[in-house]
Amino acid sequence: MIGVFDSGLGGLSVLAAIARELPRANLIYLADTAHVPYGDKQDSFITGRVLGIGSHLAAEGCNLIVVACNTATTTAIQALREHLPETPIVGVEPGVKPAAQGSMARHIAVLATATTARSRRLAHLIETHAAHVRVDVVPCPGWATHVETLQPDTPAFRTEVASKIEPLLASGVDRIVLGCTHYAFLAPLIEPHLQGRAQLVDVADAVARQVLRQRGDSYAEGKLGLQATSHPERLAAALPALGLHKLASRVATVEQVSV
Ligand code: DGL
Repeated sequence: MIGVFDSGLGGLSVLAAIARELPRANLIYLADTAHVPYGDKQDSFITGRVLGIGSHLAAEGCNLIVVACNTATTTAIQALREHLPETPIVGVEPGVKPAAQGSMARHIAVLATATTARSRRLAHLIETHAAHVRVDVVPCPGWATHVETLQPDTPAFRTEVASKIEPLLASGVDRIVLGCTHYAFLAPLIEPHLQGRAQLVDVADAVARQVLRQRGDSYAEGKLGLQATSHPERLAAALPALGLHKLASRVATVEQVSV
């Protein structure tokens, strides 16, 4: 069984890619909805949540855990690997490397939560993979929470998106990294601004391929268990609302868990 978790709905973008790559694997998706968003929380709080959720997923029988959250990966993946040394852990980091490699303008932007934006791990990623490129790191407070409403397309939020994206395009950015898994669900609001000037970079498919490499597909029933720390019914309802109909058809159980 593969366990995938995030603060809320964002990691569903990664889960959908994993489910496509491993159609027969049994999966658990845990949304820490009692504590979403992580992006404005203290590092010590996020680390506590990640260790608790990791232990819970291991106790549920997960033999591979995917931290489907840039903020949690940035803050606590090292602590989680030390906490569960027997369990392979796959994390999600902003796609700085593919963006830098693909940028003809040598100018990219990373959209991320405040925690990821100020993290040493992102600074290190940039130093390692984008030293030759100009990188604008853009914190987007409130965006993940906005995705949680399941109705992101409001006039006020369109204005907010334009205020972040248009200046980047005007300054010549040609790759925009979605550095938070929630932002994949905002692509329909960002893409109309791009008009061929820039591409969005999302790493969900690359993470799914890494899971497949680590583990191979299993010959299980292809079931999906949904777990949430509050309002699990909202998590189940989110799948069709986000257009994730194939995932919705795999759902076997929906549970509230206290972690
Ligand atoms: N989806 C998460 C990420 O990739 C966290 C968003 C949040 O909870 O603030 O960073």
